[in-house]
Amino acid sequence: MNILVTGGAGYIGSHTCIALLEAGHSVIIADNLCNSRRETIEKIIEITDKEVTFFEIDVTDEQAVDVIFNNNKIDGVIHFAGLKAVGESVDIPLTYYYNNIVSTMVLAKACQKYDVNQFVFSSSATVYGENKVPFIETMDLLPTTNPYGETKAMSERILTDLAKANPEFSVALLRYFNPVGAHESGLIGEAPNGLPNNLMPYVTQVAKGRLKKLHVFGNDYPTLDGTGIRDYIHVLDLAEGHVAALDNLKEGAHVYNLGTGKGTSVLELVKAFEDSNGIDIPYEIVDRRPGDIASCYADASKAKRELGWTAKRDVITMCRDAWRFEKIYKDLDE
Ligand code: NAD
Ligand code: WQD
Repeated sequence: MNILVTGGAGYIGSHTCIALLEAGHSVIIADNLCNSRRETIEKIIEITDKEVTFFEIDVTDEQAVDVIFNNNKIDGVIHFAGLKAVGESVDIPLTYYYNNIVSTMVLAKACQKYDVNQFVFSSSATVYGENKVPFIETMDLLPTTNPYGETKAMSERILTDLAKANPEFSVALLRYFNPVGAHESGLIGEAPNGLPNNLMPYVTQVAKGRLKKLHVFGNDYPTLDGTGIRDYIHVLDLAEGHVAALDNLKEGAHVYNLGTGKGTSVLELVKAFEDSNGIDIPYEIVDRRPGDIASCYADASKAKRELGWTAKRDVITMCRDAWRFEKIYKDLDE
């Protein structure tokens, strides 16, 4: 199939392009490079030795999206493009609502116009709010604590309503848990701008010596060692989950958790990183981070049952691959 991948130059999108190309699909990337680099497209081509079509456009631009649909045979869309920094979304909510909602609307509208009925959407476990773990797809969603999370919940509702109104429209709403790691080549991975918000990139930058020590946000949670529990999933497993979702699309809107089903605490992750890479990660326990929840992990049984997909890579592999990428990667400001 010819797949339009919005946000395909980004962290999860680039790994998914590789998985799609390796599975025999063709890929058209639409990305405005607001949080990624053009070189990533070249790396995708280098890793797969396959062609990729790239359009540098903003997917909130209805006309630019129309041109792509009009000039290319598109069988399906995977919509990754979005802004994702939780804290920033609190400071500039309109930018987040506009970018993340309008992009979904523009793409859904183009799909209607050009009779494209295969759609996969990047949602997030954040939509569960502070539910009881493990999070399962049948749960009622609780409000999230930030505009970013609300854009995901709203986009899910928009696409679900569209599927109700158009019975042939098939959409998979994929709720990712905590993607980490990188392609085993070390050529692509997660490269946040500025100070990392997320745990794994912070740890790899401490390992590299760019940052002095990790701040562990709270050790008084009701968990095994008091630190937050998350369901870390290797980005390549996540990428393969998208191929499985695409291959198993069916009419209507269907929600799937993409996680491992296994929780890991902050201190367990730090230890796994130290053990797998032989590097000490100095850390200090500090106050809880506002908005954080104690535990978040998936019930991953639906994706296994309906998509035939399970995550295969363990936390040690995630740490090794994340570190390999960090070692090779050169920041633009370095
Ligand atoms: P990323 O920032 O690396 O990738 C997003 C890509 O979208 C970037 O290349 C960016 O340039 C592009 N983009 C953003 N707005 C655009 C627009 N209007 N037009 C065109 N391109 C645009 O982020 P990621 O981690 O790869 O996340 C991909 C998707 O998965 C996002 O929708 C994100 O919200 C979602 N998600 C991410 C995580 C995570 O922890 N990384 C977890 C759950 C869900
Ligand atoms: C993981 C654990 C922190 C950094 C976020 C978004 C979520 C989703 C994924 C998009 C927590 C602790 C972290 C640090 C720490 N994104 N931590 N020191 O918060 O689970 O999820 O990214 O959809 O919406 O909220 O991920 O990696 O930030 O934190 O102690 O410097 O690590 O408290 O327990 P989180 P994270």
